[in-house]
Amino acid sequence: MKILGIETSCDETAAAVVTDKKEILSDIVLSQTEEHSPYGGVVPEIASRAHIAHIEDVIKKALSEADTSLREIDGIAVTAGPGLIGGVIVGLMTAKGIASATKKPLIAVNHLEGHALTARLTNDVSFPFLLLLVSGGHCQILVTEKVGKYKKLGGTLDDSLGEAFDKTAKMLGMGYPGGPAVEKCALKGDENKFDLPLPLVGRKGCDFSFSGLKTAIYRTVNNFKTSSCGLTTGSMDPAIKSQDDKEFINDMCASFQKTAGDIVADRMQNAINMFTKKYPQGKHVVIAGGVAANKYLRKRLEEVVNKNSLEAIAPPVKLCTDNAVMIAWAGIERMKEGLTDSLDFQPLARWPLEKITWQ
Ligand code: KG4
Ligand code: ZN
Repeated sequence: MKILGIETSCDETAAAVVTDKKEILSDIVLSQTEEHSPYGGVVPEIASRAHIAHIEDVIKKALSEADTSLREIDGIAVTAGPGLIGGVIVGLMTAKGIASATKKPLIAVNHLEGHALTARLTNDVSFPFLLLLVSGGHCQILVTEKVGKYKKLGGTLDDSLGEAFDKTAKMLGMGYPGGPAVEKCALKGDENKFDLPLPLVGRKGCDFSFSGLKTAIYRTVNNFKTSSCGLTTGSMDPAIKSQDDKEFINDMCASFQKTAGDIVADRMQNAINMFTKKYPQGKHVVIAGGVAANKYLRKRLEEVVNKNSLEAIAPPVKLCTDNAVMIAWAGIERMKEGLTDSLDFQPLARWPLEKITWQ
């Protein structure tokens, strides 16, 4: 089985061809980072226009790199939500057009299910597995019981972990997206320099909260700005800040990242306790979503998972951030279960994973 995947829910226009033998025949991702970075975040209207401008070429490239034609494709899998609605509409309408013209099945994929199932493409992961889903838009812990069936154990009460990374970067004048920049600076900083709050840590349950952490970072950055002449260049480029600025930024990033790691480890220990009690046959803990690209957090998760005699799985970094391979693969998993969709499937801006229905 050969599936074309299409992803346009945020700021990447992506298409890929994947087979049920777990072969990635092509993986095209056109990032819009440059268009959005002057605004410090994704601008939905700019994103929609860029998707319209590029989607056709991206799909053609994915087919040609896979050395395949639409005739040889067995189905079109597309992100139908959740996400920025303009982008979702562009991808879904394109996929419907192709499905209608070629008379191939359409598979409307939940973007989060794409992230969730990627580990089954890259590793030998069986159901049920525990899932930490951390991206720009989402931050939750779920049990994946099977394709299309998720049980939520906890979620964020305010910001997502990706937003916490992005906002920390923004406060430090580091531009968008913040995650990779924070990770890079953290390597050079002292993680014990700033004592930051650990919201909800030590409490029952698997929920997250990052707003207190954000406020603490805001105060620390402001104190630094007023007590020294630090961060005064106003430059987005850390390379041209003063030595004091650079040291402050590196220490702040390292302290923030360590705090994020402490929070994740604490919340995941509670989740593992629940998971092993209710699903004693479960063996794997998967980290997915854009923030799963962070090597430090992957290590922290691995530590807590190994301590509990389970196996931690993190897909390759390139497949953690948004891509169409994960959508094609989720399409394959759904097609195998006979789950295809009609051409009047509606795009969904909000679509919680635990609300995906098993037909
Ligand atoms: O899954 P994703 O590509 O898009 C959404 O579905 O939201 O996730 C994007 C998020 C952004 O907040 C970005 O800063 C974060 O993932 N991210 C990272 C890293 N790479 C991307 N966060 C921490 N460390 C990274 N290396
Ligand atoms: Zn995503």
